[in-house]
Amino acid sequence: MAELPLIAATRRLPDACEARLKKTHRVRLGDDAAAYTPEGLAKHADGASVLIVSPAETLNEAAINALPASVKMLPTFSVGTDHIDLAAAKKRGLTVTNTPGVLTDATADLTMLLILAVTRRGGEGERLVRSGTWTGWRPTQLMGAALGERTLGIIGMGRIGMAVAARARGFGLRILYHNRKPSPQADALHARYFDTIDGMLPHTDILSLHCPMSPETQNLLDARRLALLPKGAFVINTARGGHVVDDALIAALESGHIAGAGLDVFAGEPKLDPRYMKLDNTVLLPHLGSATAETRHAMGMMVIDNIESVLNGRPPLNPV
Ligand code: DGY
Repeated sequence: MAELPLIAATRRLPDACEARLKKTHRVRLGDDAAAYTPEGLAKHADGASVLIVSPAETLNEAAINALPASVKMLPTFSVGTDHIDLAAAKKRGLTVTNTPGVLTDATADLTMLLILAVTRRGGEGERLVRSGTWTGWRPTQLMGAALGERTLGIIGMGRIGMAVAARARGFGLRILYHNRKPSPQADALHARYFDTIDGMLPHTDILSLHCPMSPETQNLLDARRLALLPKGAFVINTARGGHVVDDALIAALESGHIAGAGLDVFAGEPKLDPRYMKLDNTVLLPHLGSATAETRHAMGMMVIDNIESVLNGRPPLNPV
């Protein structure tokens, strides 16, 4: 009997996904604690026809070129593909797939969590209770910012930006957005379109980033743009850490020009600038945007649907 094809995954997958893969393939699962070098990735993929990767690995040109010739497909357990050098993958003839659509709601929910946590000072309140130093209810204690009086400025009105806008409307926020072009769906939410980021920022009380990572969006939130936001504005980032110039945001948080930041993603994560942790007006999460059991299950099943399609000689369902 012919040996089952070998699939390597850099990380553990949700139980049902691992079980499904194991029915029809040999599976080599990575160690969740591993920090992969290009050589480590190549070793892990040895003999595999598919290497399932995640945003926790960097598939730069060196890593892609180091992969064994057996690897034909690189599905990523993510919608974002900025951790993969797509040009190098194409040159190597690798089929890259991703998981669009299924993480929209989970990421939008987490964005609301950060908006609420930052404006209502949830992190500070939680630390106060845990420290055992809470002395009781006070009329002026930890007063936050009311959402109903404010605007939410969204950069990137794709699936996730739109889902955030729909939720935010329920909290009374007025929606502003910048996108390459206006969207009829956003019109239905009475969202106001700005054709430039700079034009939108002075009107924005809470800024939320939802654009994909690209050379154009890298460092888009720098000192100049932060200064365009009104004093006391909030910044939320559930997209990619590289959109933000950390030195600039930290300076604006320290000076009070920015009243608070809710960050789920960091440039160079899991490392982050330690100054963020010293600031009371930040809420910091470990890239949890898509982390619901339902969403991770759906992402894993989408990865496997793509693999099965390709290994059975059909086109990938979600090619990148
Ligand atoms: C993605 O899919 O790109 C997310 O960042 C992972 O939650």
